[in-house]
Amino acid sequence: MQTPMLSPSMMCAPLESLPQLLQTFSDEKIEMLHIDVMDGVFVDNLCLGTDYCRSLRRLTSIPLDLHLMITEPEHKLAWFDIQPGEFVSVHVESSVHLQRTFAMIRALGAHPAAALNPATPLSVLDYCLDEIDGILLMTVNPGFAGQKMIPSMIDKISDCRRYLVQHGYPEMPIEVDGNVSFENGVRMREAGADIFVAGTSSVFAPGRTEDNIRRFRSALYSASRR
Ligand code: DX5
Ligand code: ZN
Repeated sequence: MQTPMLSPSMMCAPLESLPQLLQTFSDEKIEMLHIDVMDGVFVDNLCLGTDYCRSLRRLTSIPLDLHLMITEPEHKLAWFDIQPGEFVSVHVESSVHLQRTFAMIRALGAHPAAALNPATPLSVLDYCLDEIDGILLMTVNPGFAGQKMIPSMIDKISDCRRYLVQHGYPEMPIEVDGNVSFENGVRMREAGADIFVAGTSSVFAPGRTEDNIRRFRSALYSASRR
């Protein structure tokens, strides 16, 4: 398994403290910034648009981890000025021609990832593992922060790690998103997750952000050793 990486969920970040928050993330060597893009159609919420992504790139060099919860993403990728090295997760439920969509992201020098809603089976990936660099497993139904993890998602994470080993991709990263709390994060890590979307129940929990980051990192690292 890869070293655990944190991707703070920027929809949970208070705008008024963004500059100092980004400085803290840089000081704490945060690996990427999770940007939940929502169009109000694929999910019942509107959140973080194209301007937000462009502004954030001017404020920090931490790579973006775009989570596109939008319809027809293949027709909208150009809106986001995607940069080489960024991660771009597309919901398998939102794009009809998935290989084409993933190839478009790779052509931009970015890393395509397949995002799966909780009820979506892993078998949807049977014929497109070659085209992706990661899998984003939703552990809540997407759209809102502050929800509770669906308990069966822990088994889905371990099923996914087993699925990747069986299909010859043992090192492909699994990202988890939704109520990734200090406690749930440890269980998700033990089940095989590598990238943790850290929101209201971890990095943005009450307390100093740097303390939350250090607490979460040490919990995830010790879980790795089990
Ligand atoms: C769901 C969102 C949330 C958010 C994190 O669509 O993607 O998962 O990033 O919020 P919490 O950690 O509160 O679930
Ligand atoms: Zn997300």
